[in-house]
Amino acid sequence: MISIAPSILSADFARLADEIARIQDGGANLVHVDVMDGHFVPNLTIGPPVIEALARETNLPLDCHLMIEGADAVIGDYIRAGAARVTVHVEACPHLHRTVHRIREAGAMAGVAINPATPLESLYEILPDVGQVLIMSVNPGFGGQRFIRASLEKIARLAASIQQRQLEVAIEVDGGVTVDNAAELIKAGARILVAGSAIFGKPDPALATRDLRKAAEAGL
Ligand code: DX5
Ligand code: ZN
Repeated sequence: MISIAPSILSADFARLADEIARIQDGGANLVHVDVMDGHFVPNLTIGPPVIEALARETNLPLDCHLMIEGADAVIGDYIRAGAARVTVHVEACPHLHRTVHRIREAGAMAGVAINPATPLESLYEILPDVGQVLIMSVNPGFGGQRFIRASLEKIARLAASIQQRQLEVAIEVDGGVTVDNAAELIKAGARILVAGSAIFGKPDPALATRDLRKAAEAGL
C-alpha cells in the first residue's frame, strides 16, 4: 500500500480548502502539513488554528510535520486541533522518548524525522515506539528543492533494519519527490510519498496526485 501525502506548503494559502478538495479528488491518502517556527528552520508557516480550520474541511488524516523547537509544550495543541499524525525531528527533541510518548498518549500516531546529515543510528532506540519515520531528502525549510540522491540508500538501509527487527514502521520520504524518482523511492522501501511542488506546482493537482501514484506503483 502506497500513501500519497501532498504537502500544502506549495498550495495557495489563501485557498486551502479548494486546494485540499483537489488532492482529495486525485485520491490523496494524507494531507501533509509543514509546521515551521523560524528557529529550527529558517521559515515560518502555520500553527494549530490553521490545522483546526483544515480539519473542519477534510476527512483526510492530517500528517503534521513539526519543524519546531520546544515541541513538548505544544504537541497537545496540535492534536486537539486535529492532527492525526505528529512527526517531530530527532535534531530538535533532546528528550525524544518522552516527546514520542506524549504524542501517543494524546491519541495521535507518532513519527520521527531526520535531516539528510543525521545518521540512521540516531533512530535505533526509538524505532519500536513510532508508527513512521520521515526521511528528509532535502534540508527542511522550503518547498521546491532538489532531491538528495543519497536518501535512496538511506531509505534502503532503514527498510532492511525495520524488516530485520520485525517492526511495523512506515517509511515516509519528504523533499524533491517527483514522478521521476517515485518508483525508486518505493523500490528502496518508502511507503509514504510527500510531495509539494510536484503536486501543487502543477496546473491540475488532482491529476498530479494520480500521476505520482501511478509512477510510484511501478516501484512495487
Ligand atoms: C520541506 C517540507 C516539505 C516540502 C516539500 O521542509 O518538509 O514537506 O513541502 O516540498 P517539495 O515536494 O516541493 O520538495
Ligand atoms: Zn514536510
